[in-house]
Amino acid sequence: MINFVPFKCPVCQQALAVSGRSYACPQAHSYDLARQGYLNLLVAQQRRSKQPGDSDEMVLSRQRFLDQGSYQSLASAIAEIVGSHRSGFAQSLLDMGCGEGYYLQQLRAAANLQGQNSDFQIAGVDISKRAVREAAKRKLYLQLAVGTTAALPFFDQSFDSLLCVFSPLSASEALRLLKPGGQVHILEFSHVGPKPLARAYDLWSFQVLPRLGQAVAHDRDSYQYLAESIRKFPDQQALVDMLTDAGFERVRYENLSSGIAAIHRGVRV
Ligand SMILES: C[S@@+](CC[C@H](N)C(=O)[O-])C[C@H]1O[C@@H](n2cnc3c(N)ncnc32)[C@H](O)[C@@H]1O
Repeated sequence: MINFVPFKCPVCQQALAVSGRSYACPQAHSYDLARQGYLNLLVAQQRRSKQPGDSDEMVLSRQRFLDQGSYQSLASAIAEIVGSHRSGFAQSLLDMGCGEGYYLQQLRAAANLQGQNSDFQIAGVDISKRAVREAAKRKLYLQLAVGTTAALPFFDQSFDSLLCVFSPLSASEALRLLKPGGQVHILEFSHVGPKPLARAYDLWSFQVLPRLGQAVAHDRDSYQYLAESIRKFPDQQALVDMLTDAGFERVRYENLSSGIAAIHRGVRV
């Protein structure tokens, strides 16, 4: 694995240097590179359960769902926004809670189309080991680590762009990691605007979505759970306020599909 952006030791916060198939810091904390090409930088005190993050079953079922192209339009919207950076894809990006790397793959493909693949440095972190392992299997030529978005294993001002797609976000961590002028992009389920539309959406998410989940991913329960948990996401303005309070500037959002999802953006000045 090529160390495009230096990793930080999660124990002593010093830089990790590559040494054979391991990464080690000056204090001799050492992390083996997995056969698939990722590092496990989640330390015991950051672990709240035996298998943190999405389970094998959730990861594989989402992978099946995404690889059907169901969220292709979301991926294209993200690629367009990331590629609108002043240097196009000639930038460094971290996907926080990258799952099994679907959006990273889509971004790589978009950079490739623009002829900027070799200048596009990408990294992904997820707390689920299975998710990171699946992402590594996509062979995207990127840095991957098991870790938590609450304490990301990189130094301050490491990235031009950050992405967070349906994953837990620490706004203060995001701000810390961005270079001045860098942007965070957050894709989150949100709140549907006009009342009749909101009612139709409720009907769709509680009646249709679980059936769709059963048909496409053979997993009705997860999609029922998804429909329920979507209602708990903050609305558009609450997320704007949260990012602004954390210190982001020029925070704005764009509704997708009338607010079923929204992409929020904020700049670190
Ligand atoms: C809904 S999935 C989204 C995955 C991916 N971004 C996508 O949209 O395909 C949420 C992801 O967040 C990860 N996750 C949950 N808590 C996390 C944490 N504290 N730090 C990093 N990842 C976390 C889960 O393992 C899961 O892969």
